[in-house]
Amino acid sequence: MPSLPADIGEQLLARARQLAACSDEDGKLTRLFLSPAQRAASAKVAAWMGAAGMAVRIDAIGNVIGRYEGEHPDGPALIVGSHLDTVRDAGMFDGLYGVLAAIECVGALAREGRRLPFAIEVVGFAEEEGVRFGTGMLGSRAIAGTFDPAWLAYRDRDGLAMGAALSAYGLDPHGIGEAAKRRADVLAYLELHIEQGPVLERQALPVGIVTSINGSIRAEVTITGLAGHAGTVPMDARKDALAAAAECVLAVEARCRAEPGLVGTVGSLAVSPGAINVIPGETRFTLDVRASDDALRRQALDDILAAIRAIAARRGVRVADRVVHELATAPCAPWLMRQIEGAVVAEGLPPFRLPSGAGHDGMAMIAIADIGMIFIRCAGGISHNPAESISAADAALGARVLLRVIADFAPASAP
Ligand code: GLV
Ligand code: MN
Ligand code: MN
Repeated sequence: MPSLPADIGEQLLARARQLAACSDEDGKLTRLFLSPAQRAASAKVAAWMGAAGMAVRIDAIGNVIGRYEGEHPDGPALIVGSHLDTVRDAGMFDGLYGVLAAIECVGALAREGRRLPFAIEVVGFAEEEGVRFGTGMLGSRAIAGTFDPAWLAYRDRDGLAMGAALSAYGLDPHGIGEAAKRRADVLAYLELHIEQGPVLERQALPVGIVTSINGSIRAEVTITGLAGHAGTVPMDARKDALAAAAECVLAVEARCRAEPGLVGTVGSLAVSPGAINVIPGETRFTLDVRASDDALRRQALDDILAAIRAIAARRGVRVADRVVHELATAPCAPWLMRQIEGAVVAEGLPPFRLPSGAGHDGMAMIAIADIGMIFIRCAGGISHNPAESISAADAALGARVLLRVIADFAPASAP
């Protein structure tokens, strides 16, 4: 096994802190798709990839891709990646950790001058979270060839369309198809990520093997009532768009609480005109519904939208809804799980398997490759929160497991 530096855990944490400085907001980490912070983070990641011995390029959607050739140039690649964007007020390991560790794995091979029988491509996906435009996995969906040009019309909070934002960033919105890879060029997709939940910590285990990634569906809902004077309009004559939205939020909670394994979230709510003495005339909110069972998830969304329409009808307000994102549950490939298991056992640990409640780029990459994922423990299971934290020892262990999987990778592995 090629060796990683003895202080690899500390080095990974130090690099994560450096990347956390690339933020769109002072005093917190927010790095959205096509922002100046993305440009700054991409430059750092590209430099680290280059120093680790990779040929680096930025593709048509802004993914940072480092390629380490195998014994035979231009052959198919094992893709190892995660994302460079964050949620708002994020922790500094979601996504980033997997990219940083993958770079170190290639660096370990390169230091020994070791070439594998296949190429390795480390990808820092430009967009996974879907925070800016509602739909996510844009970087991996571009590579998987499943990017829908209709998304270019989706607008951010400021009303800027994705296509215009791509142009302003210096990318060609009509060239995204060029980022697509063919299945024949990809041996498998691997991702190392923090768990973002409490399961590993409860098991007192630092590392786990992911079995599948829960599917998700997201929608945007607009409720239009009637803005009016907060002092003059009697309570029974109001069409209050926020009061209606409040009922809708509780309907989401009630529907999802009623079914084990189903989760639903209203994570963003905008009220207009937004003044202390004006009855809200319009609200816009987001819906995020997930489950491991795709049929159950779809049924839940249908039920929720029906409940929202009923609330709107009863209150005399109008409602419009639009699904902006959907990805099915993505099973990890048994043959990759077995190879990850071998690496975990070689590190002296039990091969614990768990599903992922969080979404990951593998959900998109599965369109062109079998996928495998490794989780490491995070403190308290806290994520999508600035308190997100991992230990240097766990960070190092995850990198060692990933390096073993890469170094021992057997592409032709059949069940
Ligand atoms: C990404 O972290 C997601 O699961 O939404
Ligand atoms: Mn992530
Ligand atoms: Mn995330």
